[in-house]
Amino acid sequence: MAAGTRLGKWMFFGVIGVIALWFVGALGMSWQQQYRDRVRPGRAFSEKVIGETLHPVMIRKPDAEPWVDSGKKDTKGQPIMVACATCHDTRTANLKTNDGALLKEFHQGLKYAHGSQTCLSCHNSGDYNNLKLADGQSLDFSESIRLCAQCHGPQYRDYQNGSHGGMNGHWDLKQGPRERNHCTDCHDPHHPAYPQVMPVFPPKPVIGEAVLPTHGKPSH
Ligand code: HEC
Ligand code: HEC
Ligand code: HEC
Ligand code: HEC
Repeated sequence: MAAGTRLGKWMFFGVIGVIALWFVGALGMSWQQQYRDRVRPGRAFSEKVIGETLHPVMIRKPDAEPWVDSGKKDTKGQPIMVACATCHDTRTANLKTNDGALLKEFHQGLKYAHGSQTCLSCHNSGDYNNLKLADGQSLDFSESIRLCAQCHGPQYRDYQNGSHGGMNGHWDLKQGPRERNHCTDCHDPHHPAYPQVMPVFPPKPVIGEAVLPTHGKPSH
């Protein structure tokens, strides 16, 4: 009799306990999922706030295909612009070129300083009207951000989070759209180092103000 009641009690609390555990677990999981959705890197492209429509985030795109000045002029004196493949379809790709100084026949003066890569680390030897990714996949010039991203993961991650690369438009996407710069708006793919900022002269001291000591020669 006494043993039976005790067993009943145990079973009762046991069932309650299991239900409570399941409830807490489910709550925790859904919270964790929501948290993950919020902090996942990459949200800059498609910020997701449940139940609200947000304006889009656009990334400015470079031209689909750069053309180069052939150096010749048309009858009106305008420079003749040609597509890359015009010449390159009939030329054997030179896989070794890795320095602007090696360009003697054409593209003279192209400044190149980007690690020890060759030109064809990025340009598509099989189709000069396109770029290529490391796995050989052809890539449109307008998609070059993917090219940069494949080698500069940390900066691309920072870019996606909004801490690299800047933006225009609305911070609050409920108010309006946002426009992001493209990597090549700030970095030349051929010599990507960001130009050094030029220091300016210090302000002239106002008459009567104590002149602070300067390094080297005193300025007047
Ligand atoms: C008028 C012809 C002409 C056009 C147009 C032209 N190229 Fe070239 N390109 C050349 C020549 C010639 C060389 C070889 C230069 C040398 O090695 O002295 C060259 C070299 C290169 C190289 C170095 C690798 C190699 O195969 O020699 C790359 C990369 C390249 N060009 C990319 C381009 C891209 C991208 C475009 C279009 C924006 C373009 N070229 C348009 C003539 C051209
Ligand atoms: C890191 C990748 C990368 C490498 C390496 C690279 N390029 Fe480019 N190149 C690009 C991209 C991206 C563009 C398109 C630029 C734009 O969107 O304005 C481009 C554009 C060009 C153009 C056409 C427009 C211009 O800027 O003159 C020529 C010509 C060219 N590259 C030649 C070369 C040559 C020659 C080399 C090697 C000395 C080389 N590239 C190496 C990525 C690269
Ligand atoms: C195949 C790999 C590769 C690709 C693709 C590539 N980079 Fe780089 N990048 C490098 C390497 C390696 C260095 C380091 C060069 C060095 O230390 O001299 C570098 C250096 C840089 C730097 C620092 C330059 C400095 O001296 O401070 C910038 C900025 C940069 N890359 C931007 C870009 C952009 C923008 C693109 C896309 C157009 C791009 N990279 C594509 C490999 C790559
Ligand atoms: C609004 C301009 C701007 C844009 C857009 C931009 N960058 Fe930069 N980036 C900079 C500046 C400025 C620096 C130099 C920071 C310094 O010197 O300390 C830099 C530095 C870098 C460096 C050198 C390493 C470092 O962190 O200092 C790399 C690599 C780089 N950027 C890659 C990229 C890539 C990839 C993209 C596109 C996804 C991009 N950047 C877009 C302005 C920009």
